Amino acid sequence: MKKILVTGATGFVGKHLIELLLTKEDIMIWGTTHSSSPNKDMQVSWETLDLLNTNQVREMINKVKPDVIFHLAGQSNVRKSWEQKDDTFQINVIGTIHLLDAVKEFCPEAIVLTVGSSEEYGFVKQENMPINETSVCNPMNPYGISKLSVALLSKQYYQSCGLNCIHVRPFNHIGPGQSLGFVTTDFAKQIVSIELELQENKLKVGNLEAHRDFTDVRDIVCAYWLLSQKGKSGEIYNVSVGKGIKISTIVKELAKRSNKEIQIIQDSKKFRPIDVPFYIGDCSKIERDCGWIPKISLSKTLDDIMNDWRQR
Ligand code: GDD
Repeated sequence: MKKILVTGATGFVGKHLIELLLTKEDIMIWGTTHSSSPNKDMQVSWETLDLLNTNQVREMINKVKPDVIFHLAGQSNVRKSWEQKDDTFQINVIGTIHLLDAVKEFCPEAIVLTVGSSEEYGFVKQENMPINETSVCNPMNPYGISKLSVALLSKQYYQSCGLNCIHVRPFNHIGPGQSLGFVTTDFAKQIVSIELELQENKLKVGNLEAHRDFTDVRDIVCAYWLLSQKGKSGEIYNVSVGKGIKISTIVKELAKRSNKEIQIIQDSKKFRPIDVPFYIGDCSKIERDCGWIPKISLSKTLDDIMNDWRQR
């Protein structure tokens, strides 16, 4: 029986990963949560964990001694990272240090998947798209810098302590269950509120000019699982579809899924100090090493997001 630990297991990606892990055989699952209450019916051992509390982290890792760790816990909101730089760095960077130190002490053979972001690449010229893992990193927001630090830590613990760290750089991931503060949820929630006449017919949006490479979260967690099985220690892997979709297309596609005529209004409060204009990821490395390919179409993902908000 392999012991699998998921940090941040009650978050958006964590919930989907746990669902996937529950379909696998011969594994025991531990999930950590900071503040949310997990669904206790599941076949998961739950631990409350504050990654900033070194003793708690050491005790938990010593108790579980996992074979595989999916380190999902962190501050994942780019916009928030401008207002909460301190918290973003504390949880993303210092939290990861505490975890890797505990792994080094109690289970140095464990495979540790650290989760970064395409935001580590930051500004890349359009002619250099799609972005592969060797592209120069030039992060343009505190979140991207914090995740690049995680990538460097992952590499450093691999090189200097021999830990089996694999660093993953997912591009935008979306799907049912995502919290507000991300583009598809911010739009879908408002559209559903307009349908229910809880909000006047004005869909407030930010920058519609940016392009993002969207993957369904259910494909993302399959990628994480395959990486834990077939990924190479010390390596970085992009996870993306390889298509740049303009945010104006996303808003139109979501609005089309409603029977209301939606009025789109740009709101200056929704703009960021700086927004990376273009992301397209090259995912050929994970395809080559792990056989991962995304399966869920953007159209299905957007349908599922709308249905999710209609049921909330
Ligand atoms: N959130 C949000 N809300 N974004 C909007 C809105 C809005 O109302 N209107 C336009 N946008 C634009 C943003 O300016 C950005 O260009 C794009 O939509 C996507 O924004 P987000 O969904 O907030 O995602 P992100 O690209 O900043 O970051 C996400 O992807 C990263 C990987 O590339 C997050 O999921 C990160 O955690 C992830 O690492």
